[in-house]
Amino acid sequence: MIKYFLKKFRDSYLFSIRKQVYDLIERDSRITDLGCGDGELLRILAPKISYGLGVDKDRKEIAFAKQLTKKIGIKNLEFAEGDITEHSGNFDYSILMLVLHSLDYKSREKVLKNARKNSDKVIIVDYENPSLLGEKLFIHADEMLTGHYGNFRDYLKMDGIESFLKRKSVKKFNTDEESIKIWKINQK
Ligand SMILES: C[S@@+](CC[C@H](N)C(=O)[O-])C[C@H]1O[C@@H](n2cnc3c(N)ncnc32)[C@H](O)[C@@H]1O
Repeated sequence: MIKYFLKKFRDSYLFSIRKQVYDLIERDSRITDLGCGDGELLRILAPKISYGLGVDKDRKEIAFAKQLTKKIGIKNLEFAEGDITEHSGNFDYSILMLVLHSLDYKSREKVLKNARKNSDKVIIVDYENPSLLGEKLFIHADEMLTGHYGNFRDYLKMDGIESFLKRKSVKKFNTDEESIKIWKINQK
């Protein structure tokens, strides 16, 4: 029951950002969502894309994603349990939504390198150092409950996504949430 309400809260909090990702991708693209969690982003993208593969190491999240997607009758999505530091494939887009901040530095580097190798474009949605006090407290409290708070602190200390992107062809977008940004990396 608590999990149900947390999902509802999280989905409504993130809906406008997921919709921004929907607007950024091209129609009929092949997408992989790395660290897809329960697959909500791909279900939102499904009407616009030709194929989506969600990968996550959490077996329960993948089982939930498969079950809900099948129940709704969406046919162009697949979900697989797996480690995104080892992921390979050939896609138009790799998406990393709220994943990189949860990884240690080496894994961040590896996941981003693989994502760039496996796709023409990479979309990253993640935190930028929160500046507003209320938001800062909320995000830090939320991250303390996740089990990867150490990685999150290291991520902020290392200047988040920016440390990886200095010389790449990147566009950065604001979202409705002051501390969450979207980076679109175009490889071509
Ligand atoms: C904060 S959640 C974000 C989930 C989803 N992208 C979203 O926006 O709702 C981070 C997800 O990354 C997954 N994850 C972290 N490290 C991973 C790894 N090495 N391989 C696969 N999944 C990983 C976690 O299991 C978790 O579901």
